[in-house]
Amino acid sequence: MAETVKKPVQITETVLRDAHQSLIATRMTTDEMVPIIDKMDKIGYRAVECWGGATFDAALRFLHEDPWDRLRKFRDGFKNTKLQMLFRGQNILGYKPYPDDVVEYFVQKSIANGIDVIRIFDCLNDLRNLETAVKTTKKEGGEAQVALCYTLGKAYTLDYWVNMAKEIEAMGADSICIKDMAGLLLPQAATELVTALKSGSKLPIELHTHYTSGAASMTYMKAAEAGCDILDCAMSPFALGTSQPATEVMVASFAGTPYDTGLDLTALAEIANYFRPIREKYIANGLMNPKSLGVDIKTLQYQVPGGMLSNLTNQLKNMNAEDKFYDVLAEVPRVREDMGEPPLVTPSSQIVGTQAVMNVLTGERYKVVPQESKDIFAGKYGKSTLPFNKEVQKKCIGDVEPITCRPADLLEPGLPKFEKEVANYKQQDEDVLTYALFPEVALDYFKYRDAQNTGIDVKKADTVNKAYPV
Ligand code: CO
Repeated sequence: MAETVKKPVQITETVLRDAHQSLIATRMTTDEMVPIIDKMDKIGYRAVECWGGATFDAALRFLHEDPWDRLRKFRDGFKNTKLQMLFRGQNILGYKPYPDDVVEYFVQKSIANGIDVIRIFDCLNDLRNLETAVKTTKKEGGEAQVALCYTLGKAYTLDYWVNMAKEIEAMGADSICIKDMAGLLLPQAATELVTALKSGSKLPIELHTHYTSGAASMTYMKAAEAGCDILDCAMSPFALGTSQPATEVMVASFAGTPYDTGLDLTALAEIANYFRPIREKYIANGLMNPKSLGVDIKTLQYQVPGGMLSNLTNQLKNMNAEDKFYDVLAEVPRVREDMGEPPLVTPSSQIVGTQAVMNVLTGERYKVVPQESKDIFAGKYGKSTLPFNKEVQKKCIGDVEPITCRPADLLEPGLPKFEKEVANYKQQDEDVLTYALFPEVALDYFKYRDAQNTGIDVKKADTVNKAYPV
């Protein structure tokens, strides 16, 4: 038998970010997280993903918590472990492109408050939208990981991914993430993709997927065998379903193989014991839906991320049009093709989903066109992978000349205006960033905070711990 080379895989733990974003609409509170930090810090994870994505918005909007304060508490507790965040490129943690000065300041403050690794992606895989964030991360001494948003379609050949990996390496990124939002990467494809990326780039490769389609742990095994360096897993009480494969299961499965993570299963079991009652609480209060814990084969059939499926269900329910669900699902790939076949990830997933709903409910395609759809066709989110459907583009934006440059090149600096608007509420430098991203939600939170500080008895909004889509 040929001698096997020892190639341990590392684990990034997602229980404090993606796992609860996927399973309980991002509602885990800081108080629920802090007591277990000390134990998590001793495990030896490659990193703990704990910030960014929807956590920022949800903390403010539903929990009345300052996300910056949460980050500082993490930093205080995690003395040996790298903290990782998810960053939507030029869209930061929001839903539209921001000017460079806001992106730079956000990166700077994230690192200053404790983030070590920033995973940066663009919803169109337009790498120009990552330049500012990557450059600033490096400048501030952080680790820049660039994610390629994995999706299927005519354009997405192995060559496409390898070329993207080469460009990412040339940009000065420290590592590459395959970000599979929908769980579309099946085991055999993972072997091919990781092998191809490894041959095209010297950077460490991390794989991030979701269990939605039921294939994720098989995919991880194949990816490790093909040389994948890091895998994203979640502690078992917040694993599987629409979340990630379970940390303990992957650790046990790799033990004694060339991919042995070296992590201590007994120590992990103690952490699982801590999170289990929290899981029970969210099952009991209805926030954790048994539906999101099973296998959803629709995600493979329609190539739609689980989060997008539940958003569409909610949108249609609000419009009393639940019977149109499958018509909308069939319209999603058509809209996606009109828009140049983008990956479906925030915010492109919302834009494609909302347009598909409009097209079905009005009975005429592109009769109603939200501003975000117009902006996509006008090039304001960046370059699409394939060309737009010209006819549809014309119907949506008329004679407007689409832009072809990096969209942020056309945006005026934003900070002076935001500083002025937030002046009355500002208690820390970071408040201007909170306001820049979510103006209305931020003001509500600042007013709540002011009232707390003056001792007026303001009850927490009763939205806390209720099920609302993020
Ligand atoms: Co994810």
